[in-house]
Amino acid sequence: MDRTVRPWLPPVGDAVSNLRFWLRIMKEHSLFIALGLPPNQAALIFEANSFMQLFEALENRALAPGFAVSMPFIQETMLAVARLIEFKRGLIRMAVQCSLGGSLYPSLLDHITREAMHFFRLLEMLQCPSQPISPVHAILAVEAFWLRLMKEHTEFIVGLLDPSERGLLGKAEGFRSTFVALMQTANELSSMAESCPASFRTVQRFTEDVVTNTTMLRDFKAAGTELLLQCKVLSVISTPVLGDHIRREADRFLAEIAAIQPGLEVGIPTK
Ligand SMILES: [Fe+2]
Ligand SMILES: [Fe+2]
Repeated sequence: MDRTVRPWLPPVGDAVSNLRFWLRIMKEHSLFIALGLPPNQAALIFEANSFMQLFEALENRALAPGFAVSMPFIQETMLAVARLIEFKRGLIRMAVQCSLGGSLYPSLLDHITREAMHFFRLLEMLQCPSQPISPVHAILAVEAFWLRLMKEHTEFIVGLLDPSERGLLGKAEGFRSTFVALMQTANELSSMAESCPASFRTVQRFTEDVVTNTTMLRDFKAAGTELLLQCKVLSVISTPVLGDHIRREADRFLAEIAAIQPGLEVGIPTK
């Protein structure tokens, strides 16, 4: 694992809910990889399916009644995630060297690798809880991480819809522009917050804007998932699970904001 770049990001919510959420996400990434690989890559498809089974088994254990987070479970999960990250990186290498084929964008592979790295860091933090940090820095870290992912989701949607789906493509393009701008602002505000101002009320206003737009994007993804399930939309999306997956990620982003937002009161110092 590359530990040189480790932007701080707090685990929001309890350890069990984090584990359940991210284990399901890892399982589904493995499914998307298996579905997107070309048929001649049988060994890689087999490996992707093995990862799907591995994460499904871990998820089932985490979902069992009475499950409690233990160090051995965290370490076992870290090992599995580290292996999945290496697998995804191997696919990125093949994709950028034009030796992969199939329908997995290099950007999509990179996106799901970053999500796995984020999960790995959360697991590290569950092992050794980090120092408390101000709500301003916490929310900006959450926003910088998730806004990039939301922006990329809109780009994947644009790339996967049939060209005849002009209405949906227009909406997705609109979201893309919005989230490019929000992502840029989050990075700028994060940079300013490094000066540790006594209060930073613009972050409150910005966060309200983020919540409004992410809620709209979440609803768009939910409506799109319904269309996929009813076979009422033309696309090359391999499974409706993808629609539900990115909808759940938007909901997770909103939940993480909601957990920190009440702390963003006027006058709360950032240090
Ligand atoms: Fe994902
Ligand atoms: Fe994602």
